[in-house]
This record gives sequence, C-alpha cells and structure tokens, in this order.
Amino acid sequence: MKNLFSVQGKVAMVTGGSRGIGKMIAEGLILNGVKVFIVSRKKEICYSVSEQLTAKCGGECYPIIADISKIEEIEGLIKNFLSKESHLDFLINNAGTSWGASIESFPENGWDKVFDLNVKGLFFLIQKLIPVLKNNASNQDPSRVVNIGSIDGMINSKFENISYGVSKAGVHFLTKVLAKKLVKKNINVNAIAPGPFPTWMLSTGIGFGGETEGVDWSLVASQNPRLRLGTIEDIVGATIFLCSRAGAYIVGETITCDGGIVACS
Ligand SMILES: NC(=O)c1ccc[n+]([C@@H]2O[C@H](COP(=O)([O-])OP(=O)(O)OC[C@H]3O[C@@H](n4cnc5c(N)ncnc54)[C@H](OP(=O)(O)O)[C@@H]3O)[C@@H](O)[C@H]2O)c1
Repeated sequence: MKNLFSVQGKVAMVTGGSRGIGKMIAEGLILNGVKVFIVSRKKEICYSVSEQLTAKCGGECYPIIADISKIEEIEGLIKNFLSKESHLDFLINNAGTSWGASIESFPENGWDKVFDLNVKGLFFLIQKLIPVLKNNASNQDPSRVVNIGSIDGMINSKFENISYGVSKAGVHFLTKVLAKKLVKKNINVNAIAPGPFPTWMLSTGIGFGGETEGVDWSLVASQNPRLRLGTIEDIVGATIFLCSRAGAYIVGETITCDGGIVACS
C-alpha cells in the first residue's frame, strides 16, 4: 500500500513534451523516478527542454524529434527510441493542435491539420508501439497508454474551434475502442480530458499571443468552478494515478481534470 502510486524505474514517452501540459507531465514523471523521452518537432527547443528537465529534476530525459502527424516520422521516432530502449511502460499521447475559424470560413487544412495529429497520428503511434508496449507488461502490471483529450470533446467549447472538439471526442472514443483491443495484450488505454491549463495553446486561443507568464489569467480562473486554472500537480496527479499500481484496474476511461467545468455544465 505504501508504494501504491509509485512509478519509479519505469520508461515513458511523452509526445508534445517540450512545453505546456506535456512538459508538466514529463517533469512530474522524472521527479518520480521515470526515464522520460519527450517528442516534438522543433529540435533546438526539444533538446534544450530535455537538458533543462534533466538538470532540474535530477533524472533522465531524452529528446526525440518527430512530426507525429506524419506516418514516416512516426516510424523514424520508433526506430530512434528502439536504438536506446527495448520496452516502453507508459505512452502519454499529449501532442495536439487546434484551429480557430468560424463555421462559415472554416478551411479544409484546418480540419486536416487537427485530425492528422490529434486522431490519426495518435492512433498510428499506438499501433506501431504495441510490440514495444507489450515487451515488459504483465497481467499484474500492464503498460499504460494515456491519451490527452479535452473537455471540448465532451461539451461545446467557448472557442470557434469546430474540428478540435470533434477530434477530441474522437480521442475519447478511440480510447474505448483501443482499450478493448489491447487489454488482453496487457496494455491499459485511458484518457484524461483537461480543462484550462495556462499553456501556449490556451494563450493563443484567448488572445494572449502564446504568452503564459506575465498575462492576466484571472478571467479564465473566475469562470472555473474551482476558481483557478489547472496546475502541474493536477495533471501529473491524474497521470500518475493512471500509470501506477493504483490505476492498474482502470480501462477505457476518460477522466476529466477540469476543476468541475463538465460536471457543472
Ligand atoms: N492547455 C489547455 O488548456 C488544454 C485543455 C484541454 C486539452 N489540452 C490538450 O493538451 C495537450 C497539450 O496541450 P498544450 O496546451 O500543452 O499545447 P501546446 O502548448 O501547444 O504544446 C503542444 C506540444 O505539442 C508539440 N507538437 C505540436 N504539434 C506536433 C506534431 N505535429 N508532432 C509532434 N509534436 C507536436 C509542440 O512542440 P512542437 O511545436 O515543437 O512540435 C508542443 O511540445 C493537447 O492535446 C491539447 O489538445 C490542452
């Protein structure tokens, strides 16, 4: 019981780990003894964040550069990962993107960009990692896939982001579909649906130009039932729950981590 929430000694991949929610999850896992591979497209940032996290957390963090919306880059990512590790305990599918436009002006590329990463890339990364996720998994200690969805896939959004909410509803249902297919292979698939977290994505959505520091988040906080935004503790807490022994019997669920927005809607 003492180690119910331990993730010590595990190996994780966090997509979109170079900033925002992915960086929070990477940091939280490293601080709890996990060796973490962060994946993103911008090489310099990904390398420097992995160095920063290694120094700050005193653990191991490694960068992998890939565009997850492209199958050939997913294949390169896995080749790169397998040159260093033979198994993966936790896959945190966090990389995601959005597109803002009104229904009248919504462009085809705003649909494709969002679906190619949020749904297609997420699926093919899981598909191609099945053998690696199976390698060290057992009935008592299955490997874990945690998909990062969104409350925008559960309730209507305040933003003009049609393809985003629909893609995230797809992530939540894909979570159930894959949970059923993979549970017998000792891979548990679940999702977390975050509410507002102060990241580049939310900042651009509300008109702060991507800034996360030195901007006034108080309006967003005041509209949340818990009267605040999400923090690193909130998202890491939910992730560690799903990845540790504590969450080993949870299969196919989407857990909101939103301060009560969905519950109070
Ligand atoms: N922030 C929120 O309030 C909120 C709420 C609900 C759900 N979410 C979800 O949480 C996840 C993280 O959101 P966030 O706010 O932290 O986003 P963010 O600040 O925009 O960070 C996105 C991360 O994903 C990487 N990325 C983007 N496109 C990629 C691609 N094609 N291939 C590989 N990596 C890619 C980015 O790095 P590069 O640009 O270098 O690739 C970055 O590391 C997303 O799935 C989002 O939908 C966020």
